[in-house]
Amino acid sequence: MTDQATSVATPQITVLDTGGQYCHLIARKVRELGVYAEVRPSETPASELTGRRGLIISGGPSSVYDAGSPTVDPAIFSDGAAVLGICYGLHLMAHLLGGTVLKGEKGEFGLATLDVDSPSSNLLFQGLPPRQQIWMNHRDVVTGTPAGFSVIGATGSCVVAAMAEPERRLYGVQFHPEVIHTPRGMELLSNYLFAICGCQRDWDPTHRIPAIEEDIRRVVRDRNVFFFVSGGVDSTVAYTICLRALGRDRVCGVYVDTGLMREGETEFVRATFDSLGAGNVEIEHAQNRFLGALAGVTDPERKRHIIGEEFLLVQERIIESRGLLDGHWILGQGTIYPDTIESGGTEKAETIKTHHNRVAGVQKLIQAGRIVEPLSWFYKDEVRQIGAELGLPKELLERHPFPGPGLAIRCLCSETEAPTVHTPDGYLLPLRSVGVKGDSRSYAAVLAIDCKDFELATELTNRLHGINRVVGLVRGKAPLKDLKSQPCSLSPQRLSRLRRADAIVRRISQNSGFESKIWQFPVVLVPLGLQNAPDSVVLRPVESVDGMTAQAATMPAAVLDSIADGLLVEPDICCVFYDLTHKPPGTIEWE
Ligand code: XMP
Repeated sequence: MTDQATSVATPQITVLDTGGQYCHLIARKVRELGVYAEVRPSETPASELTGRRGLIISGGPSSVYDAGSPTVDPAIFSDGAAVLGICYGLHLMAHLLGGTVLKGEKGEFGLATLDVDSPSSNLLFQGLPPRQQIWMNHRDVVTGTPAGFSVIGATGSCVVAAMAEPERRLYGVQFHPEVIHTPRGMELLSNYLFAICGCQRDWDPTHRIPAIEEDIRRVVRDRNVFFFVSGGVDSTVAYTICLRALGRDRVCGVYVDTGLMREGETEFVRATFDSLGAGNVEIEHAQNRFLGALAGVTDPERKRHIIGEEFLLVQERIIESRGLLDGHWILGQGTIYPDTIESGGTEKAETIKTHHNRVAGVQKLIQAGRIVEPLSWFYKDEVRQIGAELGLPKELLERHPFPGPGLAIRCLCSETEAPTVHTPDGYLLPLRSVGVKGDSRSYAAVLAIDCKDFELATELTNRLHGINRVVGLVRGKAPLKDLKSQPCSLSPQRLSRLRRADAIVRRISQNSGFESKIWQFPVVLVPLGLQNAPDSVVLRPVESVDGMTAQAATMPAAVLDSIADGLLVEPDICCVFYDLTHKPPGTIEWE
């Protein structure tokens, strides 16, 4: 909502949205470089894009051969703007201009090495090394360039990783320069903006707070704001900035204890808001409602849905009992940018996750304009910077993100008894988890191997169709072949088992200093074990910058050892696994 765009007449850069979840990330990276970029649907007619210095066609989940797949107006290639196609954008450019795109079966997901032929001879790679790490996420590939183009970059498995037609200022790259895993990607984008498009700087990415406050006052008008706070960074920063914009008397909050929280969470939230001087945050104890509604449920989407609905019911009751519907109040939320993207908030992004803060009831409030989401334009790293500028304590700002549905999506359930299955590549576990391949959501099996080999894990998820995740066995009370899943659901007993395991891991992770080096560290309870030790624990430490992509993190051996020791003392826990999967193809959470 804090969009300086209103003051920019004709944007210099338009990102054409072909449905990729990274489309807005591209726009943000361009803005970080000091140039305003807008996002428009890919089919926007060229006549509506006149005056742009550059057009970037984003990546997306489609294949150019799919019926109804997004396209662009071919006139954009001859209308004078410099065009950069990224991933699917490259495929479209090649396809529409007469090159060859091969429909890929397997795809390529993750890190790769790009070789560039004499970087100094083309403007896109100017100043970059001849070899660099890049990040791939695609199925189709370009195998023949259109007339006039030359190949300017390749990897071991992708012959056209970058192509150019400098005369017409048309460029395409198969990899994603906008993600953090392409470390020199910002320099490439900068070359495109300044050396190729000839852009001028017209956007100041700093000094955001006054603009956010102004927007809050504009949206809220003379009403008051109430928040359902979670104790996480986003809702606390959103609450604090509303306090600052509107004053203490016009902002209040409720924290709902769902019974799905980590150990000590309610006490932490109470202490945090007390120290902010925001005495008007109350705690609603709703454990029985949530756990009652979830009893016996095993399906992950049903769990998420029930939690979302229960949130709304609790929220409605609070709203009604406090008379918050009398037109004087609107709902404040700490929704941040990836939440809106990953729930299908952009024009075409496929629904990757169903967030509880985007279910029907909240959607109605949004449509009625009775909501203020001051951080909806920002990414996590930016929210932390804003929080620091607001003077919030480091301990709070450095907290790892914690999902709204809480421990429920880290406690896998099972409907049946099933064994592990031995395959030439490892053991297929009778578990399924969420993943994301080529921008679409997948729900697939998990493979266990008996070593902690990240490269092997990437090779396996690329090669094997039926899996999206690989875990390494750290240690256990039985060999993989003897493990079984047993029917179980989200019982209070299993939740408290997970809460205990999570607390053990967090204590060791924090004390060793490991916690502060990583983005997030989910501890997942999976129904896999023996009769008398029915569950196992999966450690899922990841490094990330914005949660949209992530790398499985490595952990010092001594820390892992003491975590395994601590967990295996628990009689109900059978084995400890380490998740070796990057995102993509696995998501950070397991459900
Ligand atoms: P995934 O699992 O999609 O997660 O890689 C990306 C980030 O989003 C968090 N997450 C959620 N946050 N409600 C939330 O508020 C949810 O339903 C939800 N699911 C995942 C996840 O913890 C990670 O930081």
